[in-house]
Amino acid sequence: MKRCVPKPCDDAQRWLDCLKAGVFAAGLLVGCGKSPPQYLDGVVYPEPTYKPGMTYYKDVLAITQTACQSCHVQGGVGPFPLSSYADAQKNHVQMAAASQARRMPPWMPSDDCQSFKDARALSQEQIDTLYSWSKDNAPEGNPADAPPPPMGMGQTLVGPYTELDIGGEYTPVTTDDYRCFVLDPKRTVDSDLTGHEFIAGVRAEVHHVLVYSGSLAELQAKDQAGAGLGYTCYGGPGIASPQLVAAWVPGSSATLYPSGTGIPIKAGAGLVMQIHYNTLNAKQPDRSKIRLQFAAMRVPRPALLTSLAENTFRIPAGAVDYSASNSLTTPSNVTLWGVAPHLHQLGKRAKIEALPPGGNSQCLIDIPRWDFHWQQLYMYDAPTGISVAKGTKITFTCTWDNPTSNTIRWGEATTDEMCINYFYVTQ
Ligand code: HEC
Repeated sequence: MKRCVPKPCDDAQRWLDCLKAGVFAAGLLVGCGKSPPQYLDGVVYPEPTYKPGMTYYKDVLAITQTACQSCHVQGGVGPFPLSSYADAQKNHVQMAAASQARRMPPWMPSDDCQSFKDARALSQEQIDTLYSWSKDNAPEGNPADAPPPPMGMGQTLVGPYTELDIGGEYTPVTTDDYRCFVLDPKRTVDSDLTGHEFIAGVRAEVHHVLVYSGSLAELQAKDQAGAGLGYTCYGGPGIASPQLVAAWVPGSSATLYPSGTGIPIKAGAGLVMQIHYNTLNAKQPDRSKIRLQFAAMRVPRPALLTSLAENTFRIPAGAVDYSASNSLTTPSNVTLWGVAPHLHQLGKRAKIEALPPGGNSQCLIDIPRWDFHWQQLYMYDAPTGISVAKGTKITFTCTWDNPTSNTIRWGEATTDEMCINYFYVTQ
């Protein structure tokens, strides 16, 4: 039976299988016969508007430069380059389909809820452009119409910073290898992390990175317990009280935390960097590194990355749309700057809502189509963050499908699930 939903193709590992099985993105256009197409998140997106006269140089290149080439270049994490007319011409049907279905560029949060920094979603107009250009059979146009070359790939961290690498070369073993590397930032005093920049060794195989702080002794013991550089980890670093301090996904540049804020790191604390390697495009020895910027003096508004988890769920075998939620009530007025929901592979949806005392419910993030591979720390676009009044009830809801024949519970293994969100908050 033909599947009319893009889900099987969202996953890098299954993407090639999809290609082989012929349920590739183009199936959405030719095979499904639903009109208008309804995508997995239940949203019926407006049919793109046809605009005549679109050409590669005049209209499309500006989109691929800014929205695709951070990943779709030779040696990048995208499975094929979109660097030249020939590249784009070869892939035009899939480009139009993937952008219309909001699979590409990968960006999970719904923009009906909040605006986030570095949002990657295309505008409806850009989607219309790709659609119309493809419909006209991808004309090249005149190279003289090309936009100026891009200004470089996003911001880099301006020194001083501490640069730490994973301590040697690591070659991923399995197709999806989740490896934790212990780092010693050698902080002799309590200080605040104000920014970071991850530099992938082999860009084509590094899929996402989460950095936690914790007890250095505990981390070193975990590292030394097994063979090879680092240790295998999945849902978290497997230590007593991990504290998320940084997150990175391909295509992102340096992150600077909001001015005047930073994440406290205790003197002598260790860091652990979880790297998700995916070997579909490359399988080479990697030596990734991270640059960490610490404030010279303590910041006026230290940030807490407080978590809200629901860990009592039991997802029944075969369940569809199974939800669980948990709430907290803010003990004081706080400013919320960002959120980082974390589920595993069965996750389908993540939503956080705030209900102020006597007020109306406010959406803090809505991820209608969860994809484990693109999780990150989402920082709000609002320059002063979001004010949350004392006594506000914040509810985090996770939704899963469970196609397995087992009850799924909370745990760190690939076969377990999670439902935890980190809030970047200050006073
Ligand atoms: C942040 C990195 C990133 C960006 C930006 C990005 N892609 Fe991708 N793309 C990927 C990866 C990785 C895959 C492999 C499948 C997956 O992991 O979802 C992929 C797969 C694809 C596919 C094949 C699978 C599918 O879903 O149809 C198409 C087509 C595609 N990208 C087009 C685009 C276009 C067009 C843009 C820009 C408008 C873009 N991508 C931007 C990383 C990216």
